[in-house]
Amino acid sequence: MSAALAALAPHAARLAAARIPDLVQAEPGRAARMLRAGPIGMSLARQKLDGDARAALHALADAAGLVPAFRRLFDGEMVNASERRPALHSALRSDLGTSDTARAAHAQAVQARERMRALVAALEASEVTDVVNVGIGGSDLGPRLVVDALAEFGTGRFRLHFLSNVDGSAAQRLLAGLDPERTAAILVSKSFGTQETLLNGAVLRDWLGGAGRLYAVSANVPRAEAFGVAAERVLPMWDWVGGRYSLWSAVGFSIALAIGMEGFEALLAGAAAMDAHVLEAPVEDNLPVQHALHGVWNRNGLGYPTHAVLPYDERLALLPAYLQQLVMESLGKRVAADGSAIDHATVPVLWGGAGTNSQHSFFQALHQGTDIVPADFIGVARPSHPFADNHRALLANLLAQTEAFANGADVDDPQKVYPGGRPSTLLLLDALTPESLGGLIALYEHSVYAQSVLWGINAFDQWGVELGKKIAGDLLPALAGELTGPLDPVTAALIDAIRARG
Ligand code: F6P
Repeated sequence: MSAALAALAPHAARLAAARIPDLVQAEPGRAARMLRAGPIGMSLARQKLDGDARAALHALADAAGLVPAFRRLFDGEMVNASERRPALHSALRSDLGTSDTARAAHAQAVQARERMRALVAALEASEVTDVVNVGIGGSDLGPRLVVDALAEFGTGRFRLHFLSNVDGSAAQRLLAGLDPERTAAILVSKSFGTQETLLNGAVLRDWLGGAGRLYAVSANVPRAEAFGVAAERVLPMWDWVGGRYSLWSAVGFSIALAIGMEGFEALLAGAAAMDAHVLEAPVEDNLPVQHALHGVWNRNGLGYPTHAVLPYDERLALLPAYLQQLVMESLGKRVAADGSAIDHATVPVLWGGAGTNSQHSFFQALHQGTDIVPADFIGVARPSHPFADNHRALLANLLAQTEAFANGADVDDPQKVYPGGRPSTLLLLDALTPESLGGLIALYEHSVYAQSVLWGINAFDQWGVELGKKIAGDLLPALAGELTGPLDPVTAALIDAIRARG
């Protein structure tokens, strides 16, 4: 563990018994301090730390070289060492890289967007009413989140659908409500080798009756064409974009169909503003950097094993699922970027759900359970609906929960004691728009990268997903009753049981 990371421990010990409201009161201006980047504000007032602990976090940022690390990211240096690639998702929406590599990536992105614009226009002029995005993980979760969150910004031209699970029930249910004569499918797969997408893609290709309205987005164009998608309907992706960072590329085709190219470009502009902010803002005022530092404080300083994301906005209900991939696939690592062992905790388990619904399901455990769960609360100041009483109630609940988590309540009856001391960050959007959503997602992307730098891990590979894929592939013949090589005895017994009942 680096000396700067180890230096958090004495502060955490010193603050063990501190009460969050006392920490707030002891620091003039803390309650009202709201960091801002465009339409997004962030209050860290209810985190469990004081000025000295904050200074230790800033020393950690310095020691880990966070500022130059962001420059390396934007300039397209090989931040993904195990796959020997840069991670240039920022070049998809902003042109802030100073290297030839980054500029070339940006130019490719702009060119691909122009091709996407033409395909959007052609589809708009066609008879198509429904579009199915076939993809999984990063080829599904980002577009699914944005299309759902920005439904009010939709052009209304198409109904968008998402098919991800290899479970045939998903395809069956979806297709039952669609007309093959008026449906188009976009097969989104960076590798064009993902089992789920190839199987669902084949189902759609057959159902559509040929390659008529089949589109693809992939970094493996030859494979997409071999699958039967006409060359002019395959949009590119590149090795230098990670799947879970790719919604800004042609992976966002479905987003552009839902909210129009203008809406898609506004989403990119919001992310671009966050790119500029993360490069320019000093560490103390830098939203992604502060978000990351407080994440590390809660994980390594205070030792909390999970982290909740609690959007108080129905439109952001899919955000926790999106962030599960972004955060846990990026930071779920147990060795350093150079392969050496690390001796400190990395990613917390991320989970969550929308308020106020979550208050009536798992909040009991958050208030009185034995584990402390730090949380990001996300609120939206201005609603897009006319129901003012509902909105006031929503915000009252949001504020009440953050207060109750932090401050608790002491009463005589032990069953009714709220211990408090539950830290939270409040992210406040002025309104939910393509710009603010783009900024919010980019904030989380940059926080993830910052945490990877602070922990010395690679945020852009995902070797942990490979073993299960390989074993599943090996088991396909056995499930079909064909002779295979030796199987694990438990797996063999379970296959027998499944075949006997199937
Ligand atoms: O789950 C592993 C993974 O490789 C993700 O990282 C990726 O987003 C997803 O599968 C889909 O991959 P592809 O876009 O290549 O189909």
